[in-house]
Amino acid sequence: MNIIFDQEQQVFHLYNNKISYIMKLFHDGYLSHLYYGSKLDQINSNVCVYFTEREGAPQPDGLQDARLFSLDTLLQEYPSYGCGDFRIPAIEARLANGTSALDFRYKSHQIIKGKEALDNLPSSHVDNDKALTLAIRMQEVAGELELTLYYTIIEDESLILRHSVIKNIGNAPVRLGQLASFCLDFYDCDFERIHLHGAHANERNIQRSKLNVGIDVISSARGASSHQHNPFVALVRPDCTEHNGEVYAASLVWSGNFSAQVEVSSFENTRLVMGINSFDFEYKLDVNESFTSPEAVLVYSNQGLNDMSNTFHHFVREHILPKKWAKTLRPVLVNSWEAAYFNFTQESIVRFAKDAIKLGAELIVLDDGWFGHRDDDTTSLGDWDILNSKKLPNGIKGLCDEIHSLGAKFGLWVEPEMISPDSNLFRNHPDWALAVPNHKRSQQRNQYVLDLSRKDVRDYIVDVICKVLASADIDYVKWDMNRNLTEIGSVLLDSDRQGEVATRYVLGVYDIMHRITSRFPNILFESCAGGGRRFDLGLLCYMPQVWTSDNTDAVCRQAIQYGTSLVYPPITMGSHVSAVPNHQVGRSTPMLTRFICAMSGNFGYEMDLGKLGEAEQAEVKEHIALYKQLRETIQLGKFIRLISPFENTKNETAWSFISLDTNTVVLMYFKNTSKPAPNLRRVYLKGLDASAKYKVYKHLATKQVAYNDFLKARNLEGEILSGSELMYAGLTMDRIDADYSSVLVVLHKQA
Ligand code: GLA
Repeated sequence: MNIIFDQEQQVFHLYNNKISYIMKLFHDGYLSHLYYGSKLDQINSNVCVYFTEREGAPQPDGLQDARLFSLDTLLQEYPSYGCGDFRIPAIEARLANGTSALDFRYKSHQIIKGKEALDNLPSSHVDNDKALTLAIRMQEVAGELELTLYYTIIEDESLILRHSVIKNIGNAPVRLGQLASFCLDFYDCDFERIHLHGAHANERNIQRSKLNVGIDVISSARGASSHQHNPFVALVRPDCTEHNGEVYAASLVWSGNFSAQVEVSSFENTRLVMGINSFDFEYKLDVNESFTSPEAVLVYSNQGLNDMSNTFHHFVREHILPKKWAKTLRPVLVNSWEAAYFNFTQESIVRFAKDAIKLGAELIVLDDGWFGHRDDDTTSLGDWDILNSKKLPNGIKGLCDEIHSLGAKFGLWVEPEMISPDSNLFRNHPDWALAVPNHKRSQQRNQYVLDLSRKDVRDYIVDVICKVLASADIDYVKWDMNRNLTEIGSVLLDSDRQGEVATRYVLGVYDIMHRITSRFPNILFESCAGGGRRFDLGLLCYMPQVWTSDNTDAVCRQAIQYGTSLVYPPITMGSHVSAVPNHQVGRSTPMLTRFICAMSGNFGYEMDLGKLGEAEQAEVKEHIALYKQLRETIQLGKFIRLISPFENTKNETAWSFISLDTNTVVLMYFKNTSKPAPNLRRVYLKGLDASAKYKVYKHLATKQVAYNDFLKARNLEGEILSGSELMYAGLTMDRIDADYSSVLVVLHKQA
């Protein structure tokens, strides 16, 4: 790993044993992009950059004679508008004189050991001797703005981290309209774009589309990274599959409004710009004030999407999750929400807990409804200091102690960012909710959003939530956020700073999360936002796991978890078995299928296990015991996608896990709708040791619904299979003529 600057060629080269990232300074300090991809020994910049005259492309003053050099055709590192480049910019600002033409030129650079944390923003952490950072300082020619571009390369990781910082070095305020986290220019447009889109209960569907000349945007303007679009995008070569081909992927360490714009120019160059959404964004930079963009993680792979995901997964575990939790195995959780909703008492929760603990549960979570007079979702958010003593006569502490005495951990739900119109907090502080003058506030789920751009509001929330968390020996917190932001205004900010509120809100969320999580380092925090509204790298810096979706149906979850796994490792994905018929889609799936799907992440139950019959309870007990044996492989191992629910038959899904020591392999296969004359699916495993022998330790498959005499259930337990056989000849899945079937095979590598 190194960063070198070739003075003669004016070339920067960042590299490790996997990738190279190369830039060059042209003429009077134009920073251009030369190369990003598999590691190069060197690049001859005289040859690799080819200038040609393009009618309609302007030349900077002094370079007009040759008519070759134009910002409109140059591959750039951080382009701006107004001085010759007509494509999408990475930065927009209105200078003190009201003009917006920007021309940034190289001033100096610095190579720094390690990587510093970003100001007021979550960011990845890395040991100083494992990373190098290049900081390139640029100055706008009018002398009012200084821009610093940061590039970090980490040993052995096929990725580059980028962010940028802008500072007002002039004598009057400047209005910032955009500060992207990065821009990435490509010579060609032979790409397809992959992104993750969705809705509440239908998060992170994989969409792959051809690039067209023009601009394509995915974005959020909802105040959160959103159910609709995840802050992730990948440009892949058309021949790229899960296991082959080139991928350029990017994900933001950011939880608010964002955009990822892709422009294919008329000369068929491609530009990708990603960062905070410039739509409805304006930031006033006072003299000497700086603004920092969120960090972006740029992953490169020449071995397909699964390799991209493995790079993200490793990076998230090593460099994003709070260190304490990155490798801590997660407990089997049972949550009260779908079991009881708002309808519980201390007694009913203790009974619920006893029934779950008997079957092996390790953590009992009391969800919404324990405070104020919250018996439905119309009231009491904000009244965290008022216990619902009708439900919990002995308080949180009484319940928590009792759960502990039963031998389990105890967890609690909170939604600190919100305020109900019907709450004491709102009656006492109506100005604490986001609002704009002369407009009524919209409601979503009967609630408003607290103005977390205000320090006084943040201080109150930190104080009141810390009091709740200190009131008992709480082991786990589910931190929810159940609406998008509307009427985004703050009474404390001047009119020329109202365009900052959506951004300041997210910075405020980070501030309270930082203060609360660092005060309680032993509490395991799970973030949630109506399920996966905020499944992003930003929140994962504070809270090491996320409630993946409010949809717990095992069929829907295959797609949701498959899509989520593009970026986020299974250890971050909350996934629970729930009752049937499923509460979101009304479907009844076998217990085993629900288990196999839910066990592919942070496993738990979202149901009252005491209400099951004896036979099902015995099944659950077995499942929990098996998960405990496999959880290290699932939570810390390598995740491999094998059959996509978005492709092929769209009726099957398969994935597998390989333990860190490579000795345990877990294969999961699902087939949703039974078909006549079915093909017998062979699954080809990946990533095994071809010459090793594997013994089938566990083989579970769902049962026929209508029993066919000729279809005998088979059991492979004890069979020995070679790695090459499993990978190249494949393993035939059981034929099950019933809907929602599934198969689990656990293999142990033989010594
Ligand atoms: C959101 C969450 C659910 C549950 C409810 C409680 O919808 O996503 O899991 O916690 O809130 O009100």
